[in-house]
Amino acid sequence: MYLLGIDIGTGGTRALIINEKGDVVSSATEEHKPFASPRIGWAEQNPEDWWRACGQAVRKALSGANLSGSEIACAGFSGQMHGAVMLDARDRVVRPALIWCDVRTGDQCRCFTEKVGAERLIRLACNPALPNFTLTKFLWVRENEPENWQQVRSVMLPKDYVRFRLTGDRAIDTADASGTLLLDVANRRWSSEILQAAEMDESLLPKLYESPEICGKVSAAGAEWTGLKAGTPVVAGAGDQAAGATGMGIVAPGLVSATIGTSGVVFAATDRPALDSKGRLHTFCHASPGRWHVMGVTQAAGLSLRWFRDQFGAGAEDGRDPYERLTDEASKVPPGADGLLWAPYLMGERTPHLDPDARGALIGLTASHTRGHVIRAILEGVAFSLKDSFTLFEEMDVPVRRIRLGGGGARSALWRQIQADVYGREVEIVEAEEGAAYGAAILAGVGIKQWNSVENACAEVVRVARVVSPQPAVVDQMKEMYQSYRRIYGAMCTIKTNGL
Ligand code: XUL
Repeated sequence: MYLLGIDIGTGGTRALIINEKGDVVSSATEEHKPFASPRIGWAEQNPEDWWRACGQAVRKALSGANLSGSEIACAGFSGQMHGAVMLDARDRVVRPALIWCDVRTGDQCRCFTEKVGAERLIRLACNPALPNFTLTKFLWVRENEPENWQQVRSVMLPKDYVRFRLTGDRAIDTADASGTLLLDVANRRWSSEILQAAEMDESLLPKLYESPEICGKVSAAGAEWTGLKAGTPVVAGAGDQAAGATGMGIVAPGLVSATIGTSGVVFAATDRPALDSKGRLHTFCHASPGRWHVMGVTQAAGLSLRWFRDQFGAGAEDGRDPYERLTDEASKVPPGADGLLWAPYLMGERTPHLDPDARGALIGLTASHTRGHVIRAILEGVAFSLKDSFTLFEEMDVPVRRIRLGGGGARSALWRQIQADVYGREVEIVEAEEGAAYGAAILAGVGIKQWNSVENACAEVVRVARVVSPQPAVVDQMKEMYQSYRRIYGAMCTIKTNGL
């Protein structure tokens, strides 16, 4: 018995196959075309390209394990969240999708918040209007491209479009739907009040499911494209954060993950919609029915290091991965980078500042600082930024009993230690550090009752491979540096206000 997870990411689509014990037997990634950014703050992708990549990735994963489509018992999806896909009466894509990092909708956010009322909106959707959220993208298209909007007969999110191509069903899960601003997150249903305020008809939206529910079967056309067998059941799946957390076993209160990819996300599973009245953390439904989660998002986490690499290079080529060379340079510098601090606001910031205009900063340079100091300051600054989410969890009484690391921040030994020291806690690394596609495959297994709940599935297949302990003396030093780090944002705002 094999299960397939398909993750429609931003850079590419990944297909991953596991067996009934949760072991990965094959995986393949097919890159997408880079997103188009015709103006500052815009980010668009062509949904047809995701479908192309899905077909190729699934075929490669099947052949990598020497499996035929008929050996896949069920498939699950995960994907980049928040993207706006719009289809016409003949199910053709009306215009390229506005994806999660497109932040052109500041005006729509302000107008919609005024119309509904900021507090009321947070009560209805558990979240404020942010440019990343899907509804604001529909409003932008309606206001700025009325000729396009007039043609729209149905809307969906990125992974749901790919599933629509695979099965012909219009479906979405409550976890991904939470990032649209159209969901009544506390009651796990579309919000009629928000739809009314947005003057949108519910018939435009896909049908809502819980993540492990079967929502369709592979169609004959879908089978032809992917090599899967027609009739294979497909579950609703989840947005990449909820699916990724599932893959790390973050499914019960007290379990928290800190994942550093392009962005950085601190994610806590909760048994209630834990509302942040100021909206600094997102409160979404989890992929496990009856559970929710809160998460804080750092816009430029791994991106900070990539920015350094792209602008200043990764040092002399020696056959190793460039990021390994960079972290090696940083490891020669003492903790605290001799007083150098990095604020990672290269793409504005979500948590905790909700400020798309925030700017990054390198503070405390002296002539004796080296490249290694700057790299170390970047690694520590990103960890301080993620710690901001832990600080908010404390304010909101969200329990943090165990922390698991994911993404690039889990793969680098130095970044793992820095995170343990900055959070002042033990951190765990799971055996199958495989990201969201792994969680999507687990959800597929729950869909066909291989496991009787998401929690039981995780208990069986997610194993902790190692634990990293904080170093007490460094923890104290990091506590002090975090206090200085916290003052950077305010100081930068003062500089901006004074017009310097
Ligand atoms: C979550 C978020 C990202 C995207 C892209 O709020 O914006 O995780 O899903 O991966």
